[in-house]
Amino acid sequence: MVNRETLEKEYPSYKRCIQDAFELGQSHIFKWWDEITPAEQKHLLQQTATIDFQFVHKLFNDNRHKTQNTHQGDLVPPQIITVPKNASELALAQRARQIGEASLRRGEIAVLTVAGGHGTRLGSNGPKGTLPIAPISGKSVFQLHAEKIRAVQQKYDTCIPWYVMTSETNDRMTQEFFHSHRFFGLDSQQVCFFAQGMFPAVDLNGKLLMNSKSDIVMSPNGHGGTIIALKEKGVLKDMEARGIKNIFYHQVDNVLIKIADPVFVGYHLKNEAEMSLKIVKKCHPEEKVGIVVHSNGHLQVIEYSELSWEDMYARDGNGALKYDAGNIAVHMIRIDFLEKIYQHGDALPFHSALKKVPCLDENGDAINPEKNNAIKFESFIFDVLKHVEKGVIMETLREDEFSPIKNMEGENSPATARQDMINLFGRWLRNAGISIPVDNHGNVIGLIEINPCFALDEEELRNKIDKHLQFNGNLSL
Ligand code: UD1
Repeated sequence: MVNRETLEKEYPSYKRCIQDAFELGQSHIFKWWDEITPAEQKHLLQQTATIDFQFVHKLFNDNRHKTQNTHQGDLVPPQIITVPKNASELALAQRARQIGEASLRRGEIAVLTVAGGHGTRLGSNGPKGTLPIAPISGKSVFQLHAEKIRAVQQKYDTCIPWYVMTSETNDRMTQEFFHSHRFFGLDSQQVCFFAQGMFPAVDLNGKLLMNSKSDIVMSPNGHGGTIIALKEKGVLKDMEARGIKNIFYHQVDNVLIKIADPVFVGYHLKNEAEMSLKIVKKCHPEEKVGIVVHSNGHLQVIEYSELSWEDMYARDGNGALKYDAGNIAVHMIRIDFLEKIYQHGDALPFHSALKKVPCLDENGDAINPEKNNAIKFESFIFDVLKHVEKGVIMETLREDEFSPIKNMEGENSPATARQDMINLFGRWLRNAGISIPVDNHGNVIGLIEINPCFALDEEELRNKIDKHLQFNGNLSL
């Protein structure tokens, strides 16, 4: 192994990080220095310079004994705008829709899709958004989102800038995918990509992990990284220059996302909210969604991995889950609220999670661990809620708006996402008077796909559909 003095002498501009690495117990990253090429040495040094060793050291020490599901604090279920149940609630939603539609027409809303995650649970190599998913055409997740944006633009005669957050690991692949599909019919000028930051993963003793003899394991720094990247990458300035006042934020993995839903936009605007959240009722206590609550005097999302078992299973007087507002990660964020956060200068906290991370063992051999061998650190966008004075929480129906792809098989997989899309289209058609057969589980028997540019929602479909249409098991509109 190369010694510290030699390194410091040969690379004076990297002296500081070399010093930190040696003093904070991370000198093993240079273990194979003499075996790697000069280009690889340069890469390793450059990577080292991006790491705040003191901070990693502190995070590890602060989190090393933390166990999961231990969140402490008094929780109160938040106030929610529920799904309309009567004429007066419908009228309120209608009013909100008009406000939202007016803002869309004025071109004040941008869409921000966070797509920087590794998708490790999905086990795929490519970005999640490139997964072929539409039930008949096999269009990708990105294309589904793009077509919804096109349809909203058409409907409101507007332009909706689309910001896609990637990360170092998938930025190139994502951009190439958009280019090779000619931006799915959108104007390339309205689509902007920006990459979030990366953060090292450590082993259970706090040591940095290596991907190869010259490369440290780095992961995207969590979607809290959006907040920093928006400013550092000049995205916020770009939004302001385009006259954007509010961001419609969502995660790439939800195929039922109602992009720029005017009712949600309208409620957010009407209440002069800084940040708003959509929720669905949790379907069981251990469902892997964060919950939205009031705690310590402000709104908060408590992640499923941190919620205490007691609160997870708590029931109200009627026997229903007490904390059932499941975060579907669909937000409206006011641009000037972001300015307030930057002025505050308060960094988002990092959360830790135990993970299985492929890496090199001490002999330099690649291992694919079967047990958790690493701690990853991520910041979460919803932690900005502590600065929110006014926020709207709007309930929606899971079957209409929430079907994320998280796993390769089983729940929240490509198969359930496809079926949920087919079932949604089946309901629209049935409500328009077309007979659609379903099985014992309520799943449509057959395949249906409706292009958002044909009908963005049930109402549009009802106005366009041939009422005499006979469903023969395969329908593409
Ligand atoms: C996430 C939410 C959870 C919510 C659920 C709904 C967090 C911490 N939790 O859980 O409250 O109920 O979704 O589906 O997010 N991403 C990035 N960069 C990153 C990390 C993630 O862009 O550094 C993106 C991913 O591409 C993905 C999304 O954020 O689209 C969610 O990340 P994931 O790690 O899958 O979160 P969940 O555990 O599913």
